[in-house]
Amino acid sequence: MAVIAIDGPAGAGKSTVAKLVAEASGLPYLDTGAMYRCVALQTMRDSVEPSDQLQVGTIAENVIISVDGSRSLLNGEDVSDLIRSSEVAAIVSLIAAHTPVRTAMRHQQQRWIESHGGGVVEGRDIGTVVFPDASVKIFLTASPEERAVRRVGQSGGDVVTVAANIEQRDRIDSERTDSPLRPASDAIIVDSTGLDISQVVSIIVGHYESTKR
Ligand code: DC
Repeated sequence: MAVIAIDGPAGAGKSTVAKLVAEASGLPYLDTGAMYRCVALQTMRDSVEPSDQLQVGTIAENVIISVDGSRSLLNGEDVSDLIRSSEVAAIVSLIAAHTPVRTAMRHQQQRWIESHGGGVVEGRDIGTVVFPDASVKIFLTASPEERAVRRVGQSGGDVVTVAANIEQRDRIDSERTDSPLRPASDAIIVDSTGLDISQVVSIIVGHYESTKR
């Protein structure tokens, strides 16, 4: 089963790149961050404290999440835009640090890939934990300044605030004990600073093609 794992910090361009790699390679695309964002949205709706591991874990085990391309359904409702709100972004790393949440999401991600026969999967722990046997593991990064500028270009805001938010999210994602953000030992590090998207995509597709020879 072909799996291209693309991990990396916030704002590195994972989503844009992963979608294009999926198109070029003919594999389906899975955005695992959208799954964590759905759990964060449900946590807000249920007025549960993001730090409450037990209750947030119960939410993660019971919500019905369906992620397909850029569309995300939460209990059947299309929440694709809602999960991109700044309120969700502010708590998603906190809820994603809970082991019961990660266990539930990991199983869903593995089932998704099994039922689709492979895919391009982007996230934080795909190459390290979710698919340790992935065909290709990419750790996509860029300088903090460039990541902040790119995020502002996509979603607006001012660079200083956006840079601070990204930095805070990366810190929580990297410092958690369960599957922290870090490159797998056999990951290919791709620093996209100064590269355009098509260059990054062709580097990744090139690595994938070379695994088929
Ligand atoms: O990729 P994103 O910005 O949509 O991810 C949102 C958050 O979800 C991110 O800050 C950490 C968490 N996440 C995670 O812990 N593991 C993943 N595989 C994907 C996302």
